[in-house]
Amino acid sequence: MQESHVTLLDGTPVFIRPLKPEDVTLYPDFLADVTSDDLRLRFFAPMREVSPAMIDRLIHYDPVKAMAFIAIEEATGRMLGVVRLHDDPDGDTGEFAILLRTRLKGHGLGWLLMKHMIANARDKGLHTVRGQVLSENSTMLRMCQELGFHVADDPVERGVKQVTLSLEDLPELTN
Ligand SMILES: CC(C)(COP(=O)(O)OP(=O)(O)OC[C@H]1O[C@@H](n2cnc3c(N)ncnc32)[C@H](O)[C@@H]1OP(=O)(O)O)[C@@H](O)C(=O)NCCC(=O)NCCS
Repeated sequence: MQESHVTLLDGTPVFIRPLKPEDVTLYPDFLADVTSDDLRLRFFAPMREVSPAMIDRLIHYDPVKAMAFIAIEEATGRMLGVVRLHDDPDGDTGEFAILLRTRLKGHGLGWLLMKHMIANARDKGLHTVRGQVLSENSTMLRMCQELGFHVADDPVERGVKQVTLSLEDLPELTN
């Protein structure tokens, strides 16, 4: 299930598929619609914009050690969000990150992208998905809890939560 056609809570049809190098052209329009607050929640550092060098790194991931999925609005072809998962060196665990267009928050896309990533992580044979979430990011922490993640203080970084989901014995994932 690398690709999936889904519908947002407001009825918008969306196509989720693996992120490709050609999608670099979709990033400027996408990032223009992401607030600096949301960039900080995603990258943990104040930033007004994402540099071309960083976009290049985000686009050119190693498909053996990472996966990334883009959500495209079917009607317009515009990029609405992206989720990624990078394997730890142990090969059992992957670390995720997710970012959406700010105006689209609360429409159910974050939920759908997380489920898509989790299902693909399980298909790949990973045992655990983990992420770091700022303690103030209550939407993300609540969503992680509803998805079954265990939430705990990060052992190293203050103000950061470590969220962990065991993929073993996970109930069947439905949208
Ligand atoms: C965090 C983020 C990804 C959340 O995405 P979102 O699309 O706004 O969230 P959703 O609309 O999918 O979910 C919102 C709520 O609906 C629930 N929900 C959505 N779809 C659902 C479904 N099909 N079934 C059940 N619950 C659902 C979620 O659990 C959540 O519940 P809540 O009302 O208790 O909060 C998004 O806000 C974002 O990009 N933030 C900036 C970057 C960031 O914070 N990244 C995370 C750091 S790794």
